[in-house]
Parts: sequence; C-alpha cells; structure tokens
Amino acid sequence: MKKIVLITGASKGIGKALAEKMLNEKFYVIGTSRNGKIKGFENQDFYSLKLDLSNLSNIENAHKEIFNKFHRIDILINNAGIGPDLDTYIPQKESFNLTFDVNVTGTVFFTEPLIELIGENGIILNVSSKMGSLDVCELADSVAYRMSKSALNMYTKILKNRLRDKIKVASIHPGWVKTTIIESNLKNGRLTPEQSAGNIFEFLTNGFESGTFWNSENGTELLW
Ligand SMILES: NC(=O)c1ccc[n+]([C@@H]2O[C@H](COP(=O)([O-])OP(=O)(O)OC[C@H]3O[C@@H](n4cnc5c(N)ncnc54)[C@H](OP(=O)(O)O)[C@@H]3O)[C@@H](O)[C@H]2O)c1
Repeated sequence: MKKIVLITGASKGIGKALAEKMLNEKFYVIGTSRNGKIKGFENQDFYSLKLDLSNLSNIENAHKEIFNKFHRIDILINNAGIGPDLDTYIPQKESFNLTFDVNVTGTVFFTEPLIELIGENGIILNVSSKMGSLDVCELADSVAYRMSKSALNMYTKILKNRLRDKIKVASIHPGWVKTTIIESNLKNGRLTPEQSAGNIFEFLTNGFESGTFWNSENGTELLW
C-alpha cells in the first residue's frame, strides 16, 4: 500500500517540487492550494484539496473532505507559508495578522484534528525557516515572518513532547530557494525548488530524531 503524504501549499515553489518528488518516489500525495486547482498533476495518485489557512471555516471544510476520503495519513508536511513583510523593517498590522493567521493559527488548527489520522511511525514536518531561530537572529527585518516561524518552531517542540515516539515531529529550513515568496528570491535564491525538495526528501527518509530543527541546505542541525 502506498504511503500517503499531505503537503500544504503544493501549487508552486517548494511544496509543488516536493509533491512532484514524492509522486516520483511512489507516494500518494494530497496537495493543497487556496483555489483547489493545481496544474501539472494529471496523476491518479494525486488529490487536490482546497485549503485557505487564513480562514477557519475553510479549514473545517478541508477536514471534512479529508476525513471522508482518507482513513490514514502517513506524513503531514506543513509547507504553506507567507512572508508579506519579508525585507521590511516596521511591522504593519494587516500583514502581521495575516502572517500569523496562515503561518501559525491556520497551521496549528489545520494540524490538530489530523493527528488522529496520522498513524504509528507517522511524521509531521513543519517547514520553518532559519529566520525563526532565536539563537542566530542578528538582523532586524521581517518582524512578522521571523516571529511566526519562531512560534511554529515552538509548536514543533510542543507536539514532540505530546506525541512522544508515536509520531515524529521536526522543523526544517528548506534553504534559500528560488520561489516567489518574495520576488528577490527568484534572483538571489541559492537552490531551485527541486534541489530543496530533494534535500527535504532525504531528511524525511533517512531517519531523524523527533524534535529536530534541521537546515536541509547544508545538512546540519539548527539552534532554536
Ligand atoms: N523560499 C525560501 O527561500 C524559503 C526559505 C525558508 C523557508 N521557506 C518556507 O518554505 C515554505 C514554502 O515557501 P515557498 O518559498 O515555496 O513559497 P511560495 O512559492 O510562495 O509558495 C507558497 C505556497 O503556500 C500556499 N499558500 C499561500 N497562502 C496560503 C494560505 N492562505 N493558505 C494556504 N496555502 C497558502 C500557496 O498556494 P496558493 O497561493 O495557490 O494558495 C503556495 O502553494 C514556506 O513556509 C516558507 O516560509 C521558504
């Protein structure tokens, strides 16, 4: 039986490349996007799910659909994330709130009911960022984005404590990747989404200790 992986934010960037990689590696993939339409996956092992993490009733609808169609999830990858204040310095209320709605509140309340579907030996992988590390923060930009990833990292730690050995949980930094999360990444990013997805896949399949914060760009553990 194929393993089932649910990847949020699979319509572009790292999430899309990861969905392609997991399909190639013979996983069944549930991929999400806000409009429920994801181009390029004419594959019987791909299920497209509508999910807007900024909208709690939309999250509930996604749960209903998941519980109707699936009895098990092996891996949940909380990849969807936004950074409207990346490279800016003074927090703005609207983008601050939206960042937390998607990267933190939506991610937590999307994850919670799904835990019962994730079986023994399951994995929850939170796509975080080095920018959320408290220990290595030496800059003053991107207030909401950095704080949201720190909060996501705390959720990783809390889930690790709650789920013990049943489900492994980790935070991962995918590297500096050429995506449109911010326009300048297309030029400045060091990795293609496909390279980043390959590194993340390696982390997922090589065995890791629950509660790890991993830099998949250079294959080292990150300080929290
Ligand atoms: N790129 C980097 O260098 C980098 C570095 C560190 C960490 N990360 C993290 O990696 C993850 C993926 O980033 P990326 O660079 O691949 O970004 P991206 O290309 O902008 O893709 C973001 C994905 O999230 C989805 N999304 C956006 N708003 C959403 C919402 N409200 N609800 C649900 N899904 C939503 C998008 O789908 P739709 O717009 O179709 O809904 C898209 O599939 C993020 O968590 C990001 O913080 C990226």
